[in-house]
Amino acid sequence: MKLIIGTQEEVIKKAAQRYVKLLNEKPEAVLGLATGSTPLGLYAELAKLCAEGKLSFAKCTTFNLDEYIGLDGTHDQSYRYFMNKNLFEKVDIRMEATHVPSGAVKSDEEAEQYDAEIKAAGGIDLQLLGLGNIGFNEPLTPFTSMTHIVKLTDSTREANKRFFASIDDVPTHAVTMGIHTVMQAKSIILMAFGEGKAEIIKKTVEGRPEIAVPASLLQLHEDVELYLDEAAASKLS
Ligand code: GLP
Repeated sequence: MKLIIGTQEEVIKKAAQRYVKLLNEKPEAVLGLATGSTPLGLYAELAKLCAEGKLSFAKCTTFNLDEYIGLDGTHDQSYRYFMNKNLFEKVDIRMEATHVPSGAVKSDEEAEQYDAEIKAAGGIDLQLLGLGNIGFNEPLTPFTSMTHIVKLTDSTREANKRFFASIDDVPTHAVTMGIHTVMQAKSIILMAFGEGKAEIIKKTVEGRPEIAVPASLLQLHEDVELYLDEAAASKLS
């Protein structure tokens, strides 16, 4: 694992340069994208760089990590809506080249079609991740898992309830890339900001790799970069 530590602004700029380099070298790259508050700064920077002509998304394809079951793309808390508003509508991407798992899937078999689509697109070149969950993979998700339906734990629903009117409005299930799906990406970028992420970052970087802490499994991937602010890195020895 490679660690890049600085102010949030500094590490966002550095992460954005990875995208500039990748998309200039390989305009048809396949990007794995994430939601949450963490990537917002990066997405704003990418939109700015795109407007300045420093990079183009015109030929790339994207696959998002996850989606809530039961929310369609018009729901303002769906991850499709989030991606449209925060990135896709602000850059020169072709909407039909953007993929978010469908919140309408009914079975794991149906969900797994997403892996087939990723494979058909050539596999993910660069996967972006936030924390504590990798997508919506809960602790003890098998290492071999592909895209699947997850029953969200109380703590995950609790963590996400700030975006909904009440806890009862937080969906009970989600569909997420599996650990295997994520580990197959050629390169991975993980971003974490703030003291609230310090403990999980310590486990991710210094803990024993184990399925009880999905992010710790990233130690087993050969090309992972962690972009952290000082607070998120504060518990690292
Ligand atoms: C949700 C998503 C995760 C994301 C996490 C972090 O749980 N399913 O993929 O990493 O939120 O959110 P934040 O960046 O707001 O801390």
